[in-house]
Amino acid sequence: MSLLIKNIKELVGIDPENRRCLRGADMKQLNTLRNAYLYINEDIIAGFGTMDQLDRVKLDEKELIQIDAKDKMVFPSFCDSHTHLVYAGSREVEFVDKIRGLSYEEIAQRGGGILNSARLLHSTSENELYDAAWQRIEEIKRMGTGAVEIKSGYGLTVEDEFKMLRVIKRLKENSALTIRATFLGAHAFPEEYKDRPDDYVELIINEMIPRVVAEDLADFIDVFCDRGFFTIEQTEKILKAGKKHGLRAKIHANELDYSGGVQLGVKYDALSVDHLECTGDDEINSLIVSDTMPTLLPGAAFFLEMPFAPARKMIDAGLGIALATDFNPGSSPSGNMQLILSMGCIKYRMLPEEVINAATINSAYAMGVSDELGSIAVGKRANVFVTKPISSYAFVPYYYGHNNVDTIILNGKIQFKYTHSSFFKNFLKQ
Ligand code: NIG
Ligand code: FE
Repeated sequence: MSLLIKNIKELVGIDPENRRCLRGADMKQLNTLRNAYLYINEDIIAGFGTMDQLDRVKLDEKELIQIDAKDKMVFPSFCDSHTHLVYAGSREVEFVDKIRGLSYEEIAQRGGGILNSARLLHSTSENELYDAAWQRIEEIKRMGTGAVEIKSGYGLTVEDEFKMLRVIKRLKENSALTIRATFLGAHAFPEEYKDRPDDYVELIINEMIPRVVAEDLADFIDVFCDRGFFTIEQTEKILKAGKKHGLRAKIHANELDYSGGVQLGVKYDALSVDHLECTGDDEINSLIVSDTMPTLLPGAAFFLEMPFAPARKMIDAGLGIALATDFNPGSSPSGNMQLILSMGCIKYRMLPEEVINAATINSAYAMGVSDELGSIAVGKRANVFVTKPISSYAFVPYYYGHNNVDTIILNGKIQFKYTHSSFFKNFLKQ
């Protein structure tokens, strides 16, 4: 089967050089083609060009599906490289506590926060957990996300961490999205280890990691390395054990303090270091000579009312940036990547070109899939979306809180199409 998208107002995110990520000033470069076509054969991008070149293309006419994208744009699907979207229940009670003045750390110290989610998860069956996560994946798919990384970390016992990881594995097998799994047993210390935290670190190292690897349940390993959570020493032990078992690191670092987590991530060749609200010159200097992708999660800073990471300074210093949602019940209950683009522009002063690159090719890199996803290049997997009629690509971050996506194509197949876009057409004419 093949698919031809014609009359595309602008095809966004083309990369003939097929680069794995973009850094510094290159992030401002968003390659596009106006009045374009995109040709997909089976699940792969087979070609693209301007409409006047289309009659020279040899199309596989049998079983050819055509989409007319007049007035609409085509983007590579978003890659959301940092989520915790397998969880039980919700935490709006803490949300209200925060409005009343409690801090995230105060809530955590009272047994709320991650431990609250762990209690809820313990009393939720594997099937219920799967169904709830499936709904969330369907929801983000309809907002343009085509690949997602999902972490464990609300289990915090051997039994419950594996329950989460099995759910992620089933999602991987059944969803059209490309999914990567991260083992985050080191998300918080369980209540019973409060006075002997190093014993929990030993449990992670001696029992959990070897079993995660033996059962092939994770692609990456993560640690919440921050003030009040895992220390640098504990994080290093866990990363070392993960590395020994072939798990590359993607860590939570520098959200609450200048903890040294970024430098440790670089030392262990982490694929990404995430959060980074507390980033200064030392962190930037360490990242600049590394292959580690700094990943910013503006949804968490927004929701917790914390200082935003110095993204502008980081890009101007030559770093690449990836953007992700951090979709989780405590610090960022949204999986909407379009909203993340808006926050990137408004709170980080990133340009539309930069946020789009950060949420596609760079976030693909941050979850280890940029050889097959994240840009429009021949040979890449056909995960793209067609927008509603829009006036320019900057309209997507500008028209914030709305869903600008019309048709979702994953693995070369139409997954979903919103029916009416005439409202948008009329709206744009005014
Ligand atoms: O990425 N920072 C650590 N973990 C999550 C929050 C988890 C929670 O509060 O449930 C985060 O923000
Ligand atoms: Fe997170």
